[in-house]
Amino acid sequence: MSKESPKKIVVISFRKDGRIHEFYTGNFVLNKGDKVIVEAKEGIELGTVCSKPRLRDASMPDRPIRKVFRLATAEDIEKKKKNERIEAEAMRFCKEQIEKRKMPMNLIAVELSFDIRRLTFFYISTMRVDFRELVKELVQKFNTHVEMKQIGARDLAGKLGGIGHCGRQLCCSLFLSNFDPISIRMAKDQDLSLNPDKISGICGRLMCCLAYEYDTYAERKKTHEEIMGQNSQDLFYITTPIYYVNAEPHIGHAYTTIVADVIARFYRLSGFDTFFLTGTDEHGNKVVEAAEKSGETVKAYVDRISKIFKETWPKINIKNDYFVRTTDKNHQDTVREILSKVYAKGDVYFSEYEGKYCIGCERFYTDTELVQGKCPIHLTEPKIISEENYFFRMSNYQEWLIDYIATHPDFIRPERYRNEVIAFLRGPLEDLCISRPKKRLSWGIPLPFDDNYVTYVWFDALINYISALGYPDGDLFKKFWPVAQHIIAKDILKPHGIFWPCMLKAAGIEPYQHLNVHGYWNVNMGKMSKSLGNIVKPMDLATKYGLDAFRYFLLRDMVFGLDSDFTEESLVKRFNADLANDLGNLVSRSMNMVVKYFDGKLQPSSQFKEEDISLQDASYKVIEEYKDMMKKFTFHKALIVVWVLIGKTNKYIDTMKPWALATQDQERLNTVLNAITEVIKIVSVLLWPFMPHTAEKIQHQLGLGIVGVKLPLNSLEKWGKVKKVRPISKAPPLFPRVNPVKEPKRTHLDVKKVTEQGFKGSKKSDSIFDRVKPEMEEKMREEPGLVSLEDFQRLDIRVGTIKEAETISGSKKLLKLVVDIGERRTIVAGMAAYYQTNELINKQVIVIANLVPVTLMKVESRGMILAVEDEKGVYLLIPDQESKPGSKIS
Ligand code: MSP
Repeated sequence: MSKESPKKIVVISFRKDGRIHEFYTGNFVLNKGDKVIVEAKEGIELGTVCSKPRLRDASMPDRPIRKVFRLATAEDIEKKKKNERIEAEAMRFCKEQIEKRKMPMNLIAVELSFDIRRLTFFYISTMRVDFRELVKELVQKFNTHVEMKQIGARDLAGKLGGIGHCGRQLCCSLFLSNFDPISIRMAKDQDLSLNPDKISGICGRLMCCLAYEYDTYAERKKTHEEIMGQNSQDLFYITTPIYYVNAEPHIGHAYTTIVADVIARFYRLSGFDTFFLTGTDEHGNKVVEAAEKSGETVKAYVDRISKIFKETWPKINIKNDYFVRTTDKNHQDTVREILSKVYAKGDVYFSEYEGKYCIGCERFYTDTELVQGKCPIHLTEPKIISEENYFFRMSNYQEWLIDYIATHPDFIRPERYRNEVIAFLRGPLEDLCISRPKKRLSWGIPLPFDDNYVTYVWFDALINYISALGYPDGDLFKKFWPVAQHIIAKDILKPHGIFWPCMLKAAGIEPYQHLNVHGYWNVNMGKMSKSLGNIVKPMDLATKYGLDAFRYFLLRDMVFGLDSDFTEESLVKRFNADLANDLGNLVSRSMNMVVKYFDGKLQPSSQFKEEDISLQDASYKVIEEYKDMMKKFTFHKALIVVWVLIGKTNKYIDTMKPWALATQDQERLNTVLNAITEVIKIVSVLLWPFMPHTAEKIQHQLGLGIVGVKLPLNSLEKWGKVKKVRPISKAPPLFPRVNPVKEPKRTHLDVKKVTEQGFKGSKKSDSIFDRVKPEMEEKMREEPGLVSLEDFQRLDIRVGTIKEAETISGSKKLLKLVVDIGERRTIVAGMAAYYQTNELINKQVIVIANLVPVTLMKVESRGMILAVEDEKGVYLLIPDQESKPGSKIS
């Protein structure tokens, strides 16, 4: 008898929602992506293979597994598509009926069996529902057997597949065995609260992710990661807004585009297949006006400015995969196709409208959105426009969008912008005007259903994100749209957070995955504008300070999501402190030592001591933190942790004193330098997305055979995995110091900068990054009036007793005091108008003892006495009880 061949299983997905099951392969040789017909509970089903076949693991729980019948034919695939269309229609129709009849139930999913003999409607309800009438209606409409299936939380979890409402892997996947309370281990592994009273689903809807037993979770997570790794998680699609061609690129455009470049490089470095899109938005009034002003034809004008954008990006090392223009034929065709689709669906209507229109934003504003009657972005009064136009029935999708955002907490991030959109959706959502009569504006895309009108701006521009991928059939669209992420600034939150998801839904396209929203770069606290003459041009700064320093500054200084004030002074400070001092010194002193002591050739080493291992542990921790922060778009934090590592390595050098080892212990010296160069390699890889030139320069100096994207993040998993192929070499400094720049005006944000300087000067630490926690820094940035506890603790405040007081000749205001603060201090105080000298003797006062000394009327004052001023005069602050002179105030 022949031996039975070992049983192989594959994972098969059935719906776009990601529901998966395991099946035996039978005798079929299957590959990922194959469409197959499998045995279903009743009859057969068509699914897609989404994992490599693997042997059934003997340790897997023993549960019945069905098998693959055969490979699907073209006819099967066509039939499945048709079934999906029926399902979508059944969903829409049933929801409509439920609403009409005000039935207390929530429809979750509809499934049509492959043989179309059964249409199952899954719903949730907390009460008994009488759906006899509804079923009758459904049977009549769809002419098949109808089943209403009430499902509980657990089933709903199953319906949602591997990714739950909360966006977590497996949070509410299949195979929930029971609803035991969550273990602490599980909560920890899913980053949930560890307080038993607070453990609840992150999605806030179900006890979904809490229902697992830990082992089930761990087992399913493994399988899931395998599948996700091969399907969606190794793909990344990022877009910038497409910029209006009515102005040339400035620092704001550069920031968004550099962010997109940094995140795209990060994902490339993580081994993802990445697509990065940017481009220009070329229709509308604004562009026509700008062309008229410059005396060119509109076409010549848009070609010229678009070219400037296109050519600027490579100059600042932006590597986009495609540059889209709304005047491209392919784009225009896609816009018309989507319009036809939405029109055919009944979501576009013709009507008269009068409203307040901002040309700058190219949209109507409601009264509540205007600030003192003006556009909040352009601070100009909108024009009253009244005309007949086409409207998109956005209001149809309001409920859906509210629900979608509620169940996808990361859809719009950071949270402040998600909240803004939610708040907006609380009011009624007006329909969107999508056209202009051709007689008033011809520079747009003619509507497919009315040649007298054009569409432009939002119904035109937003569609670039899919037209560039070749919607609907292009391979790029199929591949990248499911993982789409947009980056925008807060100015265009509403079109991206509201119009765009509704447009996609109306066109039957899945929503994007994340909208990442950042704040505004201001110059001296105000908007950048041509009229103020304060436009900061990216190329000017990149040429002056070097491209990498410019990229670093933008990403390090702005907290993604918050506004930031741009000053050249702070750019120079960061340049000198972070790049020239911390990073530049680390690299140059280390390379110099390797060249000086070993002629650039280190020997492999394995004799690590505790201090070396602790540095190694610190770098692994930093790699993990960095990855996490990059994925969350908290770039400044990612850079802060890299600088923590740089600081630690500089400290390690100071403690190990390689220069002393050079005369005592060559072997130990070799080990220490190995550890240092290993960390520098790690730092270079982590910095590559931000500063590609610098990172590659360091990698060349380290003598590594591979550099840049070829040195991926996973090559760092093992200490010393990437071997040196050439001797380490000395090189000129990466960032020679530049002269400080003084800005004429100081702004409130400088509070923070002064604070940082203060830290820099502190003896306790080499770098601010060791002392300012990222969250604290973010808080300080958010509320510029705040000071950190460290700030406060740096003040030396003491109780003092005034021992002597005398007037200063030539001054009506000042008194010279001698104060006992544990030591005798001379302090000059502006008290002469309020106190007689003899009144002051033996008075107790509060003194700031560590102010920088100043000389007033030729007397050196070393400290300051605290006083309060109101309309009646100035009074000294005194302790409530007599205290010992010199007592500290904390
Ligand atoms: N054309 C529209 C976008 C259509 S996208 C489908 C548009 N163009 S724009 O030229 O005005 O670009 C706006 C975007 O430029 C902002 O969302 C942001 O990405 C960037 N920035 C412009 N000025 C900025 C600052 N001062 N600060 C930060 N980024 C800003 O709106």
